[in-house]
Amino acid sequence: MRLFDSHNRHIHKLRLSLLDACNLRCIYCMPQNPQFLNQNELLSRQDIKSLSSILVNLGIDEIRLTGGEPTMRSDFMDIVKDLSLLELKKLAFTTNGLFLKQHLPKLKKTECRNINFSLDSLNEKGFFNMTGSRDFQKVLQAILMTKELGFNVKINTVLMKNMNHHEIKDFVEFSGKYGIEVRFLELMRIGPARNRFEELFISADKIIDTLKNISTLMPIQLPVDSTSFNFKLNNKANIGIIASESKPFCGGCSRLRLSATGKIRPCLMMNQGFSLKNKSTDEIKKILLKTMALKPVDRIYEVLQPMNQIGG
Ligand code: 5AD
Ligand code: SF4
Repeated sequence: MRLFDSHNRHIHKLRLSLLDACNLRCIYCMPQNPQFLNQNELLSRQDIKSLSSILVNLGIDEIRLTGGEPTMRSDFMDIVKDLSLLELKKLAFTTNGLFLKQHLPKLKKTECRNINFSLDSLNEKGFFNMTGSRDFQKVLQAILMTKELGFNVKINTVLMKNMNHHEIKDFVEFSGKYGIEVRFLELMRIGPARNRFEELFISADKIIDTLKNISTLMPIQLPVDSTSFNFKLNNKANIGIIASESKPFCGGCSRLRLSATGKIRPCLMMNQGFSLKNKSTDEIKKILLKTMALKPVDRIYEVLQPMNQIGG
């Protein structure tokens, strides 16, 4: 079965949030005093297994696990193992890397080959300013080890004025040196980031200008539903830009989101959603059609809910 929304877009990717809690406090993500969900409000391992299996039968062929920080769930590896048994083209997750090292040997034996790291600085001080954590080295080691083990590794870096915009060159060098794709994200008007948006925002055009001062940029061809546009640089760096604010890619969207509590949502920027908990396959099918009918074509201006609750 294939799922199409009312704009005839093929919807086949799922972002599945495992929990809203996180072991970092990135300045643009979490509210000041975050209140996390109780364990019993989260989808259980069994819920995730059966819901994912139904969604795959209905046309989902890619799943990316997100959070909060997905590796903070004690059953994280079991969930990855369960999902590895499904007929997926791609199984992936996004992590801050802090708790990853211990999982790598077991992960290697699963079908999960794609790991995106959120990393906003390549030095201790910047990392601390952005995340409130002193564990930069631990994260860096986890990223390099993941790459060495042969996983497909990408780094997501949210660029912000006077925080890390001066690190663009360092990231370019890092990408070239280790053969790891680095994607620069524009800050989005989501949750707490809205309050400091004007102060911190850097546009894709500005990022490209900086990159052009470093190297010639050779465009790389990517699928239409890719969120980034990418360039190869002289030093073989692969640099992507995710311009959610200035050049939104919503028109080519192929994604649905499932929250940690089991609410299926049409879009990152929409609070609406419908619970899939304890629903039959038939009911889920109807809910999916209803959800897809709500998928917007154009970028929604802002969303109040913080990112850790939505799932990045
Ligand atoms: N703008 C851009 N990216 C964000 N992320 C979280 N909040 C925002 C925001 N306001 C990113 C994180 C991570 C992914 C899960 O989402 O940096 O890479
Ligand atoms: Fe945690 Fe990711 Fe939010 Fe940073 S962006 S606080 S790593 S959930």
